[in-house]
Amino acid sequence: MSRHLLSVDSLTRESVDHLMRVAARMEPIAQRRQVTRVLEGAVLGNLFFEASTRTRVSFHAAFCRLGGSVCDTTGFTFSSMAKGESLYDTSRVMSGYCDAIVMRHPDQGSVAEFAAATHVPVINGGDGPGEHPSQALLDFYTIDKEFTRLGKQLAGAHVLLTGDLKYGRTVHSLIKLLSLYDPMRITLVAPPGLEMPDYLIDLVASRGHRVEQRTSLADDYANVDVVYTTRIQKERFTAEMSEDFSLSRNFTVDRAFMDKRCGRDTIVMHPLPRDSRPDANDLDVDLNGDPRLAIFRQTDNGIPVRMAIFATLLQVEELIEKDLRPVRWFVPERVGVDDPSL
Ligand code: NCD
Repeated sequence: MSRHLLSVDSLTRESVDHLMRVAARMEPIAQRRQVTRVLEGAVLGNLFFEASTRTRVSFHAAFCRLGGSVCDTTGFTFSSMAKGESLYDTSRVMSGYCDAIVMRHPDQGSVAEFAAATHVPVINGGDGPGEHPSQALLDFYTIDKEFTRLGKQLAGAHVLLTGDLKYGRTVHSLIKLLSLYDPMRITLVAPPGLEMPDYLIDLVASRGHRVEQRTSLADDYANVDVVYTTRIQKERFTAEMSEDFSLSRNFTVDRAFMDKRCGRDTIVMHPLPRDSRPDANDLDVDLNGDPRLAIFRQTDNGIPVRMAIFATLLQVEELIEKDLRPVRWFVPERVGVDDPSL
């Protein structure tokens, strides 16, 4: 892995496999059975200039679970960027305070610009409609774990990506990551105007994958293994687009869709948050008790995967095993009332 994690472009199949193995070793810590202090004394700078709950908090929690501490800042209002400070200056300043930095910013390319001004490892927590590499890694970890449970192979799998494929940065990183592996079938279902960028389709096709584009979820989708649905990213729409109601047409993945178009062993993923407001047409809550819904197993996987990213970038992954101790506090068997049993 390179010094920073800015894009899936810097990953190879070998480096992804390594991260997956390290993440699996983090499971006992993420599941609160064991603790480690391997990053004791290290400080993370967690800089979020765009809305976030799970990415910000799970990076924070992952660093803490490795024994490190976290300093953070949220939004432009309380940061010196509101006073006109450049990314370069902010980067140089933060590098003097922290051992690693996670940054989310609304402009594509901004996290790379920030990283160019520091030697401290920087992780892209989402740069506008650009990329979200740590999400792709946790999505891939989830697919791999679910496939192992279901006795499925990644090679030849059918993955359906739907929703806002133009502005959804998670799907940009995920499709690049999937493309590193053996050929699979990838179906892209987006409203006209919100399709996956051509350069990504070309990249994936050039690596031997079978890519198909559709505009409706009502089509017939045989043998889908993974349905990965995304929120319509209205905050990135231009003024003209906001008035185009066809963009918010029904792309809802719900129990009826799953029962009619998919099998008993098709998993449903979503990077979250799902937009629960009326007319958002996002992933339906009627799948909440359905074991095919993997979204909370997916969010749980964010911890071991982000721990693996930190451990690898800060080069402590080989020290973890020797540093483990049992947890001493009360830990419930399941964390959520909706966690369906498998
Ligand atoms: C996504 C993001 O911020 O790109 N959320 C996340 O990090 N899990 C998806 C979204 O906002 O729709």
